[in-house]
Amino acid sequence: MTAAPDRYAVFGQPIAHSKSPRIHGLFAEQTAQAISYTGQEVAPEQFADAVHAFFADGGKGLNCTVPLKELAWQLADRKTPRAELSRAVNTLALEKDGSILGENTDGIGLVADLTRNHEIDLVGSRILVIGAGGASRGIIGPLLEQSPESLVIVNRTVFRARQIADEFRRLGPVSSCGFEDLRGQHYDLIINATSTSLSNQLPPLPDGLLTDTGSCYDLAYGNAPTTFVLWGREQHARYSLDGLGMLVEQAAEAFYLWRGVRPETRPVIDLLDAERKNSAG
Ligand code: ATR
Repeated sequence: MTAAPDRYAVFGQPIAHSKSPRIHGLFAEQTAQAISYTGQEVAPEQFADAVHAFFADGGKGLNCTVPLKELAWQLADRKTPRAELSRAVNTLALEKDGSILGENTDGIGLVADLTRNHEIDLVGSRILVIGAGGASRGIIGPLLEQSPESLVIVNRTVFRARQIADEFRRLGPVSSCGFEDLRGQHYDLIINATSTSLSNQLPPLPDGLLTDTGSCYDLAYGNAPTTFVLWGREQHARYSLDGLGMLVEQAAEAFYLWRGVRPETRPVIDLLDAERKNSAG
């Protein structure tokens, strides 16, 4: 008799449109790992009980998405240094001693998509991160590990940007500002970590912020290009990317943490990209 596959899941609310079950299903097929991976709608107030029930029932690992990442950070028995700093956890893994490890693979997923998939060299670059919420906090550490010349966090509510900059300053040259301070500045990479794309809005960005070879990256993604991706194209960005690549890369990092096997991400990104282009008509 063959053993039942190891069980994994993503918890979130809403969860119906999550691509994670599909991505992990493709990884499992590609690497011949016997796992199952499902999506489960979990409200914040049910979160702790749902996690403990999942692991008590033999589950091996979880991803946590909106709005549960901060709760996952609180719940984890132990956290990696990068998860500790980011105050958000998107991956939980059951340790041999029964304790729960919390990791955040969002930032390393973003860096992998930028540097490996698009060969964007971040060493010595000038980076602008727009937004100072949880999404921004999850990426600042891994970006600073790439040794940029500078990383500026701009936010509508400036003190939130200043708070994050203060917390991460010991990792590298990070500072904060308001949108009115951007005029006349130039960046090699502009990352949208605000929630604006979800409502088809755009942060108040002046024209001409990008260097000649500068690129734009929106952490959000959709079947059609986001407002920020369209803005990047208008600004003649070398690349104007959305977060599909990051989504697949953060999943690959979680898969690696759980299984010790690194899936190939390129074919999965290409497949999901082709599927969404078809569905966008
Ligand atoms: P998340 O955890 O997804 O980052 P969040 O903590 O609510 O969500 O943060 C949302 C971010 O989008 C914030 O940086 C927010 O700016 P404020 O801190 O000033 O609220 C930013 N944001 C949302 N709508 C915006 C808009 N219309 N223009 C500029 N920034 C916006």
